[in-house]
Amino acid sequence: MDDIPDEGVLAVVRPDGQRVCLIRSQGRVSAVANNCTHQDFEMSLGDVLPDGTIQCSWHGARYDCLTGEVRQGPALFPLRTYPVKIEGSSVLVSPNPQPPANQQAAIDPRPAVETEQ
Ligand code: FES
Repeated sequence: MDDIPDEGVLAVVRPDGQRVCLIRSQGRVSAVANNCTHQDFEMSLGDVLPDGTIQCSWHGARYDCLTGEVRQGPALFPLRTYPVKIEGSSVLVSPNPQPPANQQAAIDPRPAVETEQ
């Protein structure tokens, strides 16, 4: 978990090949897909902004770091998000995308991604 910079982003690749961004923003860690929904640029090259959004560095789309919702175009569709669980200094990322807000997420206890060395 210490590998994720404060107010920053860390790109990781899950064992299944999915590219994920781990984001530390406003004291919370979240996980989003590492591809912008506008034109598939890598979100891990973007900036985490003080308002809790991550901005794509290609055309400037901004997404909520926790929910993946679009806060500024040109993107029209939200980023896929994944439930995370912190265990000690490890960040566990569910292999399943976050369900809609009104459904309960089941977090896979297997360490799909660990940032601890
Ligand atoms: S690819 Fe991200 S805003 Fe266009």
